Amino acid sequence: MSVHWWIREGLDYRDGELHLGQQNLADLVKSAGTPTFVYDASRIAANLERIHTALDKYEVEHDIFFALKANRYLPLVTFLKLMGRCGLDVCSPNEMRLGRQLGFHEEQIVYTNTSVSNEDIEWLARHPRVHVNVDSLSTLRRLATRCPGRSIGLRINPQMGVAYHDHLAYSGDKITKFGIYEDRFNEALALASGLGVPVNTLHFHMGSGYMTSDLAQFDQVLLRIHQFVKQCPAVKTLDIGGGLGVPLRPDDEGLDLDQWATVVARHARKMGVKIQLEPGDYLLKDVGVLLVEINTVEEKRGILFVGVNAGFNLQNSYAYYDMPYAFAPLRHDPAAPIVRLTIAGNINEAIDVFGEEIEMHRPVEGDYLAIVNAGGYGSSMSSNHCMRGEYNEYILFPDSLA
Ligand SMILES: Cc1ncc(COP(=O)(O)O)c(C=O)c1O
Repeated sequence: MSVHWWIREGLDYRDGELHLGQQNLADLVKSAGTPTFVYDASRIAANLERIHTALDKYEVEHDIFFALKANRYLPLVTFLKLMGRCGLDVCSPNEMRLGRQLGFHEEQIVYTNTSVSNEDIEWLARHPRVHVNVDSLSTLRRLATRCPGRSIGLRINPQMGVAYHDHLAYSGDKITKFGIYEDRFNEALALASGLGVPVNTLHFHMGSGYMTSDLAQFDQVLLRIHQFVKQCPAVKTLDIGGGLGVPLRPDDEGLDLDQWATVVARHARKMGVKIQLEPGDYLLKDVGVLLVEINTVEEKRGILFVGVNAGFNLQNSYAYYDMPYAFAPLRHDPAAPIVRLTIAGNINEAIDVFGEEIEMHRPVEGDYLAIVNAGGYGSSMSSNHCMRGEYNEYILFPDSLA
């Protein structure tokens, strides 16, 4: 296996120097410094169009809402707005306000959240055309009282799911806070009817990071969803959430969108519903890299540790969810021996590791590294832990826009 297995169109070496799109990343580091997130806008567009194309091929009527929690870098979200090919999925009043400030109309925003406060409901009341997916009877009661007659969606929990990691499972054997379960679904429908709020959408999000091998389970989840849809003839839209996965390891198969779309199409047709989806990571993960400086290369008890000037407070996928990154030196040095190493951050926590048993050309202190597949849930989840919360962010626009 090549240590450069992650090379793809738009992320490759030219004359030994790593480029994202047309940008030489070592050049960018000279002006921007590190740590720096860099996103390739043309890749975002390609990822989004790939989903549209797959669903269009099977004539699935659909709308895509980008899950803003994955990345809210303003130029990036503005780019999505200007593309005009998706709305926004938001999960807090501030995300809703940001979406509006960036020009998304209320009708282009869906709000799906949990533990909704009365203050949140006041925000929703001030945005009457934002579609709300309600995930508890409590929210249903309070929203219906504050916003009489407002059409809503019900977030259901099919108690089946699939996810890259247990911590990313939203519906499965373990009972979670998300959605309304089968045992109280009729009660929720009766409550909505009694309070005079029409239910026009059902929503579920089964977990994040599913791949082709999970499609059989996805199929089963959708079969179970039929039971819910059958009970509400007024429901015309099924929101299937996010969770579409991106290959992270050399032998990951990824998600075959054509196969995925056939499953979605078959169920959408049977249920007679339009499809909504809320991808986050699928649109963003492989779009971005986090550029860091290597400050320490040292062996400790047989393990070669490479220390960098960023920590899991800027990108936590490995520390929290075991989701690996790829690592790309900004300058390729074929003469350096290939070694096995651990890449660790600069935060004083044991979980502050970016990767273990990584095979790459031995770096030296002062080298720069791109942490690949860092575009989603990085800056948007970042914290100032150890007061190391600073970073830069850049977006590369396609030539046609530059
Ligand atoms: C309701 C809902 N929709 C969409 C998403 C986006 O998920 P992903 O980034 O895995 O596509 C999430 C993520 O947790 C979610 O909870």
